[in-house]
This record gives sequence, structure tokens and C-alpha cells, in this order.
Amino acid sequence: MVDPTFVLAVVLLIVAVATGYFVFASFAFGAGYEPTPRKAVEKMLAFAAVGPDDTVFDLGAGTGAIVFRAARRHGARVVGVEVEPIRVLVLRARRRFGPAADRIAIHWGNFFRLDFRRATVVTAFLWPGAMARLRPKFESELTVGARVVSHCHAVPGWTPTEYDRATDVYLYRWPECHGDAA
Ligand SMILES: C[S@@+](CC[C@H](N)C(=O)[O-])C[C@H]1O[C@@H](n2cnc3c(N)ncnc32)[C@H](O)[C@@H]1O
Repeated sequence: MVDPTFVLAVVLLIVAVATGYFVFASFAFGAGYEPTPRKAVEKMLAFAAVGPDDTVFDLGAGTGAIVFRAARRHGARVVGVEVEPIRVLVLRARRRFGPAADRIAIHWGNFFRLDFRRATVVTAFLWPGAMARLRPKFESELTVGARVVSHCHAVPGWTPTEYDRATDVYLYRWPECHGDAA
């Protein structure tokens, strides 16, 4: 007879390891997992005035808090880039079984390897180190008029066009946000 306490301990250990993997495995790439809060998502999309003419790149799409709202409520084309495979499966399932699938692309990979030239809006909820590494990439690839909206962490050295303290959201317009490039 197996001791029920032992079984419970094994189950709890498995749950803890699985949760730890899900949340922290992508840390080295640029951020762990935490969905962007609904109010912050709304502020990000409103700040960037996202609409049907936009192509939104969500860098680190998670389970889609930004991706699906941008496509379904704002009518934008959206590219969600995600490195963690379980979240990619969730994103693909949500895309497949919901509306506006033709406007949503889910890309499994590392956003540092992606070309941002097609993006009119870039959204991010990442760690400060990732924002710092993204800056030179933004500066070489963003097209004039593109907007970058970030929750929680600024693009170091750039001047936000707007900042909302309540939701901790930064809006940048390229190239005005970059003093030397303006
Ligand atoms: C804080 S979550 C943000 C989730 C999502 N944007 C949302 O609105 O809910 C950050 C996500 O970025 C992903 N990520 C981190 N670094 C990445 C990289 N270099 N390339 C692609 N995805 C990355 C993580 O796996 C995680 O799902």
C-alpha cells in the first residue's frame, strides 16, 4: 500500500516543477510568464491608437492577452511571437477556435531574430534587460511613425511620448522618442 502522503508530495512536486517551468523557463530569452493585466492591455492599444490599418507585433505573446484583443476588438493584423512551446500551443488553439483567425499569425521563435520592419505597432511586457537589448534593433528596423508600447519597463534612453502611471504603460513614437534621430 502506497502512503497517501507520499503520493500527495509527489503530485505537489510535479505541479511545482511544471508551474516553475511554465513561468520561468523563458527567463533567459527576455522574460518569464505573466499575462498583461486587462487595463494595461486596453491602455496600450488605446495609446497606440491601434486600428485596422495596423500590423501589431506582440513580443512575447504569452497566452494572448494582447494578441487577441488587438485583432478582435481593434481589427488589426497581429503577429504574436512566443518562444515557449506550451504557450505557442495555447495561442494556436485560441486562434483556431476563435474569430479573426485570418488576421492573427502566431510565430514560434525568438523575437530577437525577427525583422520588425513590417510592424506599425510593437507591444511588449518584458524584463528591463530585454528592453535594453531591443533598443538597437528598434532603431535599425522600425519605420517612421511606428509606435512602441511597453508595460512596466521603459526603453532605456528613449523619451516617452506619453506615460500612464495608473497602468504603468509607456508610449513611444519612432523616431521622435529618440532625440538624435528626430
Ligand atoms: C510577461 S509575458 C507577456 C505575455 C503577453 N505579452 C501578454 O500580453 O500577456 C512575457 C512573454 O515573453 C516570452 N518571451 C520572453 N523572451 C522571449 C523571446 N526572446 N522571444 C519570444 N518570446 C519571448 C515569454 O515566454 C513570456 O510568455
